[in-house]
Amino acid sequence: MERRMILGFLFATLFVGVIIIILVCFTAKNGKRPEPVIDDEPFWKRSVVFQVYPRSLYDGQPDGTGDLIGIRSKAEYLSELGVGAVWLSPIYKSPMKDFGYDISDFTDIDPIFGTMADFNALVNTFHNKGLKVVMDFVPNHSSDQHPWFQKSIKRQDPYTNYYIWAKPKNVLDDGTPVPPNNWLSVFRGSAWTWNKDRGEFYYHQFLAEQPDLNYRDPNVTQEMKKVLTFWLDKGVDGFRVDSLQHLFEVEDLSLDEPVASDSDITDPDEYNYLNHTYTINQPETFTVLREWRHLLDKYPDKVLMAEVYNNNVDTVMQYYGNDTVSLADFPFNFLLIDNLQNRSQLTGHTLRSTIGLWLDSMPEGKWPNWVLGNHDNGRVASRLGTDLVDALNMMTLLLPGTPVTYYGEEIGMENTFVSWEDTQDPQGCRWGPQHYQEHSRDPARTPMQWNNSSLAGFTTANTTWLPVNPNYKTLNVEAQTKAKNSHLKIYKDLTKLRKEEVFKKGHYAFPLVTEDIFSFLRYVEESETYMLVINTSEEDLELNLHHGANIELPHTGQVVLRSITDTSVKTEPGSEVDLSKLPLVRGEGLLLLLSL
Ligand code: NOJ
Repeated sequence: MERRMILGFLFATLFVGVIIIILVCFTAKNGKRPEPVIDDEPFWKRSVVFQVYPRSLYDGQPDGTGDLIGIRSKAEYLSELGVGAVWLSPIYKSPMKDFGYDISDFTDIDPIFGTMADFNALVNTFHNKGLKVVMDFVPNHSSDQHPWFQKSIKRQDPYTNYYIWAKPKNVLDDGTPVPPNNWLSVFRGSAWTWNKDRGEFYYHQFLAEQPDLNYRDPNVTQEMKKVLTFWLDKGVDGFRVDSLQHLFEVEDLSLDEPVASDSDITDPDEYNYLNHTYTINQPETFTVLREWRHLLDKYPDKVLMAEVYNNNVDTVMQYYGNDTVSLADFPFNFLLIDNLQNRSQLTGHTLRSTIGLWLDSMPEGKWPNWVLGNHDNGRVASRLGTDLVDALNMMTLLLPGTPVTYYGEEIGMENTFVSWEDTQDPQGCRWGPQHYQEHSRDPARTPMQWNNSSLAGFTTANTTWLPVNPNYKTLNVEAQTKAKNSHLKIYKDLTKLRKEEVFKKGHYAFPLVTEDIFSFLRYVEESETYMLVINTSEEDLELNLHHGANIELPHTGQVVLRSITDTSVKTEPGSEVDLSKLPLVRGEGLLLLLSL
């Protein structure tokens, strides 16, 4: 019996060995590039993170608003796109005053998006396709409809101090209570609302319908850990933490924040009228974040991405932690949004300095990330120009780090005009009909454009929650799938290229940057070198890359990819181009393979 087993084992080993030898010979003979090494890097370093705004990806149960069944039905699209992780903006139970960022049950799904069974099915389908699922975690506040808040109003323990309650500073002669301090809501106006039932003010960094949770009450800290555990146990792959810098305020509620002396804002209701010394980035925030990190680390391969909007890059960097303390895997890099609000701010130099600022400010050993847009900002194609769509996707997908793509950026979706009557976003609504367009986030949240059938193939209902951009007739997924060249095809080529060793682990350098040109290299010693060149100007140019380059470039290079705006035969992908006479149309990105 034992001899038979040994013989069987030897035979099996021999058989496997022969198969391996045949495969190796076959691959070598066909000169095929070895498959990219499957390494043990965490998934969020290997993946493109794709942000889905759930109301707007696809309406699977047709009522005009996107939902989980709809998102699940796009698993194939997302996996073909080549992204590795999908971050879902909030899908929890919510009165939708801030479209899901006002949560009335942190561990349930809102019926508008479907059921928990739909969610489980989505996670299953995505995982089977190799797609990770990242949830939005909104710890700073809940909805005013959350049972915790309702019980807190009534001072029912243990909920009495779950929120930040305060006595009035004083009461006016007419009986009007005055808030305890001058703190402002991000959405403008006082951050304090009077609750007559409790006879106290409560604090809300955002809408009055989004009361801030009180992390000085240990019960709250415990509750929110339970929320994280609930979703981790369901198999989600991590979290994007909402509004993290707002988690704590100083304990002394009598302190007024100082007026921002360096700002030109004169409207005392506007958030940036004040310097937020007492309401953001308090030291206690990092203690709680560390506890969440520990909690996530009990599970294998989870991601923690932090939303921190701050003008001071060093403040943002603190959310990475350092070489001894790990906090978030990365705080989002919003520099490409904040520093490049419009085309006039974009030059080769500003791109270089914006990218360099992040790379140079990161603590040792941390990992970069690149964000061009999200549900809170205008679409990048509208901010910077439709001609730059491919170049910017090339840039963010080929730089070292994790790119975060907002749905629709892969096809170059643009801002949609939304009339005052159709405006939904509370931030827009609070500014009124004269100013809503400067503040509304609706233009970047409109339905995904799938095809040229009515309502862009987003729904079979008669209406959509926000209007569809009229450009859907030509700008849509189906048209770009059929076209010979398209933003979508370039995007897919990029996600494939990213799998190559040189983009995963290669070095980078900035060989030539001028007012009109931004470029970088990705290279591995003794191996291939890629160079991305972008014409940041609004003119078509013929470039001499040897002029002003800080390294010796070869005479020629081979075109790998180029923006779809260029039809010149000279730079067709596959062709060899002269680097001293390189035509690049306005906004074009050209990816070259160089022999150095
Ligand atoms: C940041 C989110 O991105 C934004 O959409 C939301 O309005 C606020 N946090 C409040 O949750």
